[in-house]
Amino acid sequence: MNTIGCLVILVSLGFSICQSANPCCSQPCQNRGVCMTRGADQYECDCTRTGYYGQNCTTPELLTWIKTKLKPTPNTVHYILTHFKGFWNIINNIPFLRNYIMSYVLTSRSHLIDSPPTYNGAYGYKNWEAYSNLSYYTRTLPPVPVDCPTPMGVAGKKTLPDAKLIAEKFLLRKRFIPDPQGTSLMFAFFAQHFTHQFFKTDMKKGPSFTRGLGHGVDLSHIYGEGLERQYKLRLLKDGKLKYKMINGEMYPPTVQDVQVEMHYPPHVPEEHKFAVGHEAFGLVPGLMMYATIWLREHNRVCDILIQEHPEWDDEQIFQTTRLILIGETIKIVIEDYVQHLSGYHFKLKFDPELLFNQRFQYQNRISSEFNTLYHWHPLLPDTFHIQDQEYSYQQFLFNNSVVIEHGISNLVESFSKQIAGRVAGGRNVPPAVLMVAKKSIEHSREMKFQSMNAYRKRFSMKPYMSFEDLTGEKEMAAELEELYGHIDAMEMYPGLLVEKPRPNAIFGETMVEMGAPYSLKGLMGNPICSPEYWKPSTFGGKVGFEIVNTVSLQRLVCQNVKGPCPVVSFHVPDMKHTESATINSSTSHSRQSDLNPTVILKGRTSEL
Ligand code: HEM
Ligand SMILES: *[C@@H]1O[C@H](CO)[C@@H](O)[C@H](O)[C@H]1NC(C)=O
Ligand SMILES: *[C@@H]1O[C@H](CO)[C@@H](O)[C@H](O)[C@H]1NC(C)=O
Ligand SMILES: *[C@@H]1O[C@H](CO)[C@@H](O)[C@H](O)[C@H]1NC(C)=O
Ligand SMILES: *[C@@H]1O[C@H](CO)[C@@H](O)[C@H](O)[C@H]1NC(C)=O
Repeated sequence: MNTIGCLVILVSLGFSICQSANPCCSQPCQNRGVCMTRGADQYECDCTRTGYYGQNCTTPELLTWIKTKLKPTPNTVHYILTHFKGFWNIINNIPFLRNYIMSYVLTSRSHLIDSPPTYNGAYGYKNWEAYSNLSYYTRTLPPVPVDCPTPMGVAGKKTLPDAKLIAEKFLLRKRFIPDPQGTSLMFAFFAQHFTHQFFKTDMKKGPSFTRGLGHGVDLSHIYGEGLERQYKLRLLKDGKLKYKMINGEMYPPTVQDVQVEMHYPPHVPEEHKFAVGHEAFGLVPGLMMYATIWLREHNRVCDILIQEHPEWDDEQIFQTTRLILIGETIKIVIEDYVQHLSGYHFKLKFDPELLFNQRFQYQNRISSEFNTLYHWHPLLPDTFHIQDQEYSYQQFLFNNSVVIEHGISNLVESFSKQIAGRVAGGRNVPPAVLMVAKKSIEHSREMKFQSMNAYRKRFSMKPYMSFEDLTGEKEMAAELEELYGHIDAMEMYPGLLVEKPRPNAIFGETMVEMGAPYSLKGLMGNPICSPEYWKPSTFGGKVGFEIVNTVSLQRLVCQNVKGPCPVVSFHVPDMKHTESATINSSTSHSRQSDLNPTVILKGRTSEL
């Protein structure tokens, strides 16, 4: 390789001194060993505490060898957890077994995340700037060195295939593919709403930068990033947030009312420009629905705390309520959201005490790879069905009139009944957001992400041996091979979206094995989960602690809508029926006209 690199440079640039490629380009260090160059063409692998030794950290120590022989594969573990319902029903009802398994899930997953964080988009080696500059997302794998023979290091062709071509050939939806796990749009919008509090790329600085300095579940999407915005959104009385009453129900105030910046196109009427913590939440009524639910929850919890603590001032009620809502969010994410996504029959549990006897760092840094893998736009349908109306993207986006006209209860029920799209398996990104997928590919390249297989190895999976191994079929596999040249040059993001899904599942193996560690680390690494915080007094006493420990998605919604409780679920009610209905109705919807919203989005992609 080095000789070839030499020749190429000699011939093409006419250098008199032979320059060889950075030897770390070939990623010679295995098993999470660290590659360091020594001179121009030597390298050294640091195998410290990897459990392996040797030039490339490939020889296992005895204990490591035994462990690898005994360790079941991720797919086996997944199979066990998603089958044997009767067995799991018994385990779920034996507290010490449930606790034991849950703490194993938490530690085994979160140990895959480096904490404190290490690299970032600018630095592939550890240093103080990369550690301390919170404006960067962190990086789990260092960027591919700039002086490598190919974009993925040494594998594949000199240039990657055109991002637009990849998006159109392999990611673009031909016909809506419903998620076999029965995921609802209620889930899709929760995913978008919840994650946008910490995925806030600062495109003005570049794709490696974030405006989310909390790096986790800080509820900045409700309270705003920074004190200035927070104060504008606060009523500054009884701890509450500002609101507006419409049709006897509580909604967010408008931009005019509170003078905070929100991203709305000019044609939106002033009375529909709701103002909330996150500037971009006017984009989709699904986001504004959740923003409204959390606004109501905040003010509801304030009323409860005032009863408990008439002696507290506005500030203490506000701050304590925020901690309660953070707790509620984490509880719902683990016990409703991750529970649904996992498909496990094992019942997950949010209980910070499970980690008190483990080595665990209560800190978190959002990584760029986590953001990229979370671009789950295939979840989105072709059109949105609300009550008996059907909305195109054109009609739905930036239209808060939808929120007011239908009301929160009807929105919740309609979104809970509409099925979302399958994420893995390829060709399921709706035309309206294909631009976003194309940009994800371009940004990944700009940030010099390593290959899909490099990430599989980093997260303890076997690298794929071929494109057929990746997609589980022949057609896309052959085309991908033609375009990329080698499986070790396959990029992570398109790889995740074309990966063969697990049987009857929304995702393939890689999405889950990479996503779960980031997710659980981010949830449990929150300061409220640490021993000194996790006690009733932090949450205003027993009553507040009880709110955190008893909340569910269902309760969150039903305590905040007038009238009877709607259907609230991350899972569509009658799967078979909904699925076939969706397949039937959607086939006629993938029309050229759906492409129009892409135009709307083009100019504003940097605002999210
Ligand atoms: C109608 C619904 C949606 C629209 C119109 C939409 C559109 C967009 C746009 C325009 C961007 C910015 C892309 C860029 O500048 O590179 C974006 C980013 C993103 N979207 Fe969506 N999206 C929708 C739903 C979702 C859903 C359901 C998810 C589920 C998780 C999601 C996850 C993300 C993530 C993680 C980002 C990156 C955010 C950031 O880094 O700041 N989106 N989306
Ligand atoms: C380590 O990796 C390099 C480059 O991939 C290879 O040439 C060398 O033979 C390997 N060394 C050992 C001991 O396996
Ligand atoms: C973080 O790094 C960026 C890019 O180098 C720089 O512009 C910014 O000022 C740094 N932030 C801090 C707080 O040092
Ligand atoms: C917004 O939604 C309302 C229904 O609430 C609908 O009548 C209107 O046409 C939509 N606006 C646009 C611009 O499509
Ligand atoms: C589509 O609808 C027809 C009747 O409208 C029904 O008989 C058929 O089973 C549906 N097709 C699918 C794929 O579900």
